[in-house]
Amino acid sequence: MAKTELREIYRCDICGNVIEIVNTGSPSLVCCGKPMIKLITKSGDEGKEKHIPVIEELGDKVIVKIGSIPHPMENDHYIVFIEVMTERDIFRRELKPGDNPSAIFNIKKSEIKEVREYCNKHMLWKA
Ligand SMILES: [Fe+2]
Repeated sequence: MAKTELREIYRCDICGNVIEIVNTGSPSLVCCGKPMIKLITKSGDEGKEKHIPVIEELGDKVIVKIGSIPHPMENDHYIVFIEVMTERDIFRRELKPGDNPSAIFNIKKSEIKEVREYCNKHMLWKA
């Protein structure tokens, strides 16, 4: 039987619940009585300028900005979280409307495997 994979993100199209897999198991995830949808990280679609994370070194740290044109941070449209992933760790900054669409992470750029962000309207994007 197929299994979920670590770090996959699933969403309920009805209520907007978003979950991340932290331990693998059956992929039959259900919310509001319907199967949850596995989100595929986007990187080249329309709107990429406002969604693809931009990673800049800040000494031993990095700042991740969403995106090359700053993403809106309005009540009905904003970046919900930014995640920086290394081989073994995930660092997540949760954001709210009114925040800057960016976050500083105490990690060296060379350790980063992937950076992704979740927009409440336009879903999941990666650098
Ligand atoms: Fe967006």
